Parts: sequence; C-alpha cells; structure tokens
Amino acid sequence: MSKVITIAQQKGGSGKTTIATNLATVFSLKNNFSTTLLDTDPQGSLGKWFITRKEKLEDKNTLQFKTASLWGAQYEAKTLKEKCDIVIIDTPPKIEADGRPAIEIADLVLIPISPSQVDFWATESIIELAKREKKEILILINRANAKSKLIKEAVKFVKDMEVKKAKTILGNRQIFVSSMGLGLTVVEKQRTGKGCLEMLSLAKEIKSLLQI
Ligand SMILES: Nc1ncnc2c1ncn2[C@@H]1O[C@H](COP(=O)(O)OP(=O)(O)OP(=O)(O)O)[C@@H](O)[C@H]1O
Ligand SMILES: [Mg+2]
Repeated sequence: MSKVITIAQQKGGSGKTTIATNLATVFSLKNNFSTTLLDTDPQGSLGKWFITRKEKLEDKNTLQFKTASLWGAQYEAKTLKEKCDIVIIDTPPKIEADGRPAIEIADLVLIPISPSQVDFWATESIIELAKREKKEILILINRANAKSKLIKEAVKFVKDMEVKKAKTILGNRQIFVSSMGLGLTVVEKQRTGKGCLEMLSLAKEIKSLLQI
C-alpha cells in the first residue's frame, strides 16, 4: 500500500514544510504507518527540524528522513517505497519543469495555498504540471483567518481550476510555528486543540483519497 505524497507550490512560505512534518507525524503516530520525509529543498529547513527532533526525542522519534535533489527524488522515492508505507516529498519553492520527477512519482500532489491573490496566481503552473502528469491533486487552504473574505475567493479559485479542495482548512495558528521550532508538530503539543483536530481531519481525508 506504499504511497508517495508530494507537497508542491511555486510560492515560497505557503506551508509545504510545516504540512510535511505535521502530516508525517500523524501518519506515523496515529496510524502506525512507517513514514519517511524526503527533502528536496536545498534550504534544508526540513533537515534542521529533523535534527532538532532527533536531539529532543532520541529513540522516541518514529520518523525517517532522507534528502535528494529534485531530479533524484523519483529514484529515491521509488527505493523508499519498497521499505515504508508513506513517503512525503517536500519540494522547494519556484519549481518548474525541474519538479517533474517529484510529481511523476506522486500518488497525490498536495498543494497548499494561502488565501491570497498572489498565491492563486503562483499556483496555476503547478496545477497544470500535475494535471499534465494526470495526478490526483488536492489543494489545501493554509493559514486561513476564519473571518477573511479571501477564503471564499480561494474556494472559487479552486473551483475554477477544476481541482479537488480538501474539506479541511488549516487556520493561521501560532502552534504550527512554535511546535516546528522544537522539532515537534501540532499533534505532539495538543490533544484536542484546533490545530491538532485540523491535522487529524486532513490525514483522514488523504487516507480516504488514497484508499489506505
Ligand atoms: N497554518 C499555519 N499557521 C501559522 N503559521 C504557519 C502555518 N503554516 C505555516 N506557517 C508558518 O509560515 C512560515 C512558512 O512555512 P513553511 O516553511 O512551512 O513554508 P514553505 O512553503 O515550506 O516555505 P518555502 O517555500 O520557503 O520552503 C513558517 O514560519 C511557518 O511556521
Ligand atoms: Mg519549505
């Protein structure tokens, strides 16, 4: 049942790395899936998070971590698929055609967008790339302020692009920022908080989509 989820978005800072760590942790801790994070971003922030995590949790850490270049992502993910249940590929911003190997290998392309016009514009090219590869696409609205009118505009944008949108919307929550700095994730810091419930709900949606 091995599945590869590639998190991609042209726009920097849309939440790719945050969502990668949080999703991986839910799959590992709540579903007992053997889960590997594959970092293809030379910025290395996922790796820094992982090192912090290893130092903090020592042998209680259940996640695995690997790095690859964008072009090497496909080969690495294929190898990892043989050994684990879930591979989550975190990609750098501004990927164009060089992102194709990471998209090609994906069972799901997860695209986070902040509800802002700039993000909508930036997202079109990655949607087109994933569509050309005939991939399952899921748009995830991230950093949403419940009262913002822009959420409606984001929903309209997704509808116009004729792609699926996750029912779960991740709020703009400090806990996503603070937990990350500790090498942890929201579900490890909260049991019933809103951020935690959002992540559990997102993982459930993705499992249902991937039939796992
Ligand atoms: N739901 C959220 N609520 C609050 N802050 C968030 C949320 N998601 C992400 N952030 C914060 O936004 C910033 C950018 O997030 P992140 O690094 O995950 O984005 P990214 O898409 O991986 O960026 P890059 O394109 O540079 O790789 C970080 O400071 C992160 O803590
Ligand atoms: Mg990142």
